[in-house]
Amino acid sequence: MTGQPLLKVQGVETYYGNIRALAGIDVEVHRGEIVSLIGANGAGKSTLMMTICGSPQARTGSVIFDGQDITRLPTHEIARLRIAQSPEGRRIFPRMTVMENLQMGAGLDNLKYFSQDVEKVFAMFPRLKERQTQRGGTLSGGEQQMLSIGRALMARPKLLLLDEPSLGLAPLIVKGIFEAIKKLNKEEGLTVFLVEQNAFAALRLSDRAYVMVNGKVTMSGSGMELLANPEVRAAYLEGGRH
Ligand SMILES: Nc1ncnc2c1ncn2[C@@H]1O[C@H](COP(=O)(O)OP(=O)(O)OP(=O)(O)O)[C@@H](O)[C@H]1O
Ligand SMILES: [Mg+2]
Repeated sequence: MTGQPLLKVQGVETYYGNIRALAGIDVEVHRGEIVSLIGANGAGKSTLMMTICGSPQARTGSVIFDGQDITRLPTHEIARLRIAQSPEGRRIFPRMTVMENLQMGAGLDNLKYFSQDVEKVFAMFPRLKERQTQRGGTLSGGEQQMLSIGRALMARPKLLLLDEPSLGLAPLIVKGIFEAIKKLNKEEGLTVFLVEQNAFAALRLSDRAYVMVNGKVTMSGSGMELLANPEVRAAYLEGGRH
């Protein structure tokens, strides 16, 4: 946690028309960390992820990545800086096969690593290997989620943004996906910033976390601190463990 953060979001406000979805957000993610963002529906979590990727752009404040101000860069230039996103709702290419989706993720810059990277993704998600010629749109929800994460990894990201990786998935698949994220972080030092409805699982996985309410960060701390925090427990962890 020394040195400048890999990602620094400072005073960011993002609007949809004249509706302010982010009302001055400060968030930092350091190299090698897993940081999660939790909060109720409509709090602005996805908007923050999308603002980091440049669409929509922040109206005020700044997004600094690896020392560079990316606030006004177009999305494709941000992607080339090795920020990869697995967006909410997966957004894989439904008519393309699993393999073609992974090729799209790799982009032109990484084609020389393609076979080695694809083997890594298949090692992590053997199901994708079995289904490499199947069209994305016919995969099950869990398989599509694996493909979405796999596709993001093919970009060889310095920062992986995951928006609700567990959405709609069975507990066993969620467990597998969270284990895969942890493994990448531990073994490859991958930095991860994730949004999760499943607050219990996210906080357990994360080094640090932020809580968002109505476009603002209201709390932050280590995953363990927030797990123990009575307000967090009441608002996000009631209803038992997941
Ligand atoms: N394209 C859009 N146009 C107008 N308003 C939008 C748009 N996208 C999001 N919003 C609004 O911005 C606010 C924040 O939405 P956002 O999707 O960031 O929330 P979220 O925290 O990701 O919620 P969820 O947990 O339901 O995914 C909401 O009030 C939402 O209705
Ligand atoms: Mg969302």
